Amino acid sequence: MQIIQAGMEHCDNLLELNKTLHLDIPKFKWDTGEYITEEISKGGCYIAKDTIRGKDKFLGSISMKSYGNKGCIDKLIVDKNYQGKGVGKSLVNFAIDWSKARGKNELLIESFCQYNVAGFYKNCGFEQDKGLIYYQGTPFYCFSMKI
Ligand SMILES: CC(C)(COP(=O)(O)OP(=O)(O)OC[C@H]1O[C@@H](n2cnc3c(N)ncnc32)[C@H](O)[C@@H]1OP(=O)(O)O)[C@@H](O)C(=O)NCCC(=O)NCCS
Repeated sequence: MQIIQAGMEHCDNLLELNKTLHLDIPKFKWDTGEYITEEISKGGCYIAKDTIRGKDKFLGSISMKSYGNKGCIDKLIVDKNYQGKGVGKSLVNFAIDWSKARGKNELLIESFCQYNVAGFYKNCGFEQDKGLIYYQGTPFYCFSMKI
């Protein structure tokens, strides 16, 4: 598996992958073409790909942001056909390396409670912050890890 920086040519692949994220909540924006185009143009969007029977397969994606001394995973998705095979953990390890390479000492991720993936982040070494934060009335968890 390779993790490469996403370009505009990956827009359709990302639109497809990001469908996995969709939640029926007010102002959900993370699966829209506008959001995806913007995140690619900012340069922090990466795709995990593999060659299977001679064809490129896009297994998942991760978007990274930077806040002072902290790296932040803005979005993490693994295609449902490839979940449970270690792709998500490899993308988190990529985020750790990405953040360390930029001099960060902490990695953050926020996740809507409805995704029910706290166990995944704890398994990857994150600690869950106390309390919840709300986006347009929808609760999400915050996780952090010293790196
Ligand atoms: C959450 C997600 C990124 C995990 O990726 P993945 O490739 O399926 O996970 P991995 O195979 O790397 O799992 C790593 C470990 O976490 C565990 N794990 C995975 N998903 C889990 C979950 N939902 N709850 C608890 N543990 C989980 C695995 O069992 C594995 O444990 P092991 O190392 O002891 O074998 C992926 O399921 C996904 O994209 N889900 C849909 C979109 C989503 O919810 N994204 C998160 C938005 S913030």
